[in-house]
Amino acid sequence: MVEHENNGWGLPRHFRDGIWWQFIKTLSRSTVLVVFSVVLIVGALFYTRMLDTHLLSRDSSTKPLLTSKIYDTRPFLGHEIPKNPHNQIEIPLDCNTHNLTKSCPTNYPTTKDNDDLSPSATCPDYFRWIHEDLRPWAHIGITKEMVDRAKETANFKLVILNGKAYLETYEKAFQTRDTFTLWGILQLLRRYPGMVPDMELVFDCVDWPVVPMDRYSGPDAMDPPPLFRYCGNDVTMDLVFPDWSFWGWPEVNIKPWDILLRELKEGNTRKSWLNREPYGYWKGNPEVAETRQDLMKCNVSDTQEWNARLYAQDWGKESQQGYKQSDLASQCTHRYKVYIEGSAWSVSEKYILACDSVTLLVKPHYYDFFTRGLNPLHHYWPIKEDDKCKSIKYAVDWGNSHKEEAQNIGKAASNFIQEELKMDYVYDYMFHLLNSYGKLFTYTPSLSPEATELCVESMVCKAEGREKKFMMESLVKGPSNTKPCTMPPPYDPPSLHAQLKGKNSSIEQVESWEKSYWDKNMKS
Ligand SMILES: *[C@@H]1O[C@H](CO)[C@@H](O)[C@H](O)[C@H]1NC(C)=O
Ligand SMILES: *[C@@H]1O[C@H](CO)[C@@H](O)[C@H](O)[C@H]1NC(C)=O
Ligand SMILES: *[C@@H]1O[C@H](CO)[C@@H](O)[C@H](O)[C@H]1NC(C)=O
Repeated sequence: MVEHENNGWGLPRHFRDGIWWQFIKTLSRSTVLVVFSVVLIVGALFYTRMLDTHLLSRDSSTKPLLTSKIYDTRPFLGHEIPKNPHNQIEIPLDCNTHNLTKSCPTNYPTTKDNDDLSPSATCPDYFRWIHEDLRPWAHIGITKEMVDRAKETANFKLVILNGKAYLETYEKAFQTRDTFTLWGILQLLRRYPGMVPDMELVFDCVDWPVVPMDRYSGPDAMDPPPLFRYCGNDVTMDLVFPDWSFWGWPEVNIKPWDILLRELKEGNTRKSWLNREPYGYWKGNPEVAETRQDLMKCNVSDTQEWNARLYAQDWGKESQQGYKQSDLASQCTHRYKVYIEGSAWSVSEKYILACDSVTLLVKPHYYDFFTRGLNPLHHYWPIKEDDKCKSIKYAVDWGNSHKEEAQNIGKAASNFIQEELKMDYVYDYMFHLLNSYGKLFTYTPSLSPEATELCVESMVCKAEGREKKFMMESLVKGPSNTKPCTMPPPYDPPSLHAQLKGKNSSIEQVESWEKSYWDKNMKS
């Protein structure tokens, strides 16, 4: 303070004599600087929030939504302070020139100097499955003949050449699955321009994997066709890729993952685990699979209590009522949440795991790109598929009498979803899968006359309603300032084997607890 005694800071005398100045003089110079910076930052944050709100309010109108102006087109980002605002390059979205034609801008950045990107952490462990999934082609490479054979059941082929995407549609997919999958890949190209190698990517948007392992093994077998889809199982070789819902599912009002993940986090604070209903909750469509109809038998009634509270989702009614009952972030009301596969894997798994509740996972037959990173008793509680009611009853009783352990399981799953499945890692998974896949190509793809260039303008400018809204909300503004995460090495066979064996023995452990519980209850 003494050293500031004669420091007028160049201010007029009447100010220096004022009471405020007397107060400021008592503070050190650094304190004043800190306070001043805080005011600036808060002001800047407030300003970006206003831009966001402005954008959202425009959203619902039918007036042209997009302009070539480069203001923040990605809502909610205003909550974060950009790490390096001056370095952030933004790729403009030009719907003035591209609103009616399906044309794409020619000045798209397709390269970026990687050297000035900041390094990134090691990717989550489940990325190691990329090595396993691509193993069938690791030594033989990917030839044109193999790719052509993959088209048999596919919905589309996307060709990536010099960072640009070209689409050939074979068959329109169910709802907007294909649209939002393609949208997601375009966002990847915006995020990492010039980094995704040339390739052809054949995609099947139907639920079930179709490339059977046994047909492509043995001495005289053909080489397997590389076919992308959303899930796989232990007897198929389809390549698993993040599903469309990460960018939004307009038909059932499921928002882009970035937004939903934040809502789920906030939703979890509304009701602490102890104050939640002490039962297993499930809501969905029981019609799609026999195993779900079997689960319905465990519902509570006048005559039975299996600790299950099960509800059928009526999408028709939900849509009329504005999806109030299906808001995922307000479905974290029970201590336990059941996950059960539908016709194959279900996109609901990530929403269920994100709840802070114990996930009661009915033995799954399919995996998607991240679920192989989940461990029984750590992230979820395993439920037998052939004795669901007894299994659920025991799980809930166990959790209600081991509250600490049960909460830890719920928390571990939410942390996994919030940390290891955030959108950054979804993009990085896509990047590493496609980068490793593209490197296996033995030929340079060429464009057939049927292929048309695909870019965000050709997709979003003509889109309408919720589809357009979700696209705008999940638009990647520009190239990332950081490199993709560092790919972990492949598993060595013994450690992979040990890991699978460990999962197996955790599940068998639960089964044996369950057995002695029921043996005891039968006797008494
Ligand atoms: C589309 O572009 C034309 C020509 O540039 C322009 O006159 C029209 O207003 C645009 N429409 C929308 C919906 O932006
Ligand atoms: C399960 O039981 C509850 C309570 O009786 C009921 O509201 C619900 O509709 C039942 N669920 C199904 C799928 O029948
Ligand atoms: C564990 O492995 C054994 C032997 O391979 C198998 O018979 C059993 O079904 C597996 N258990 C589970 C829960 O997957």
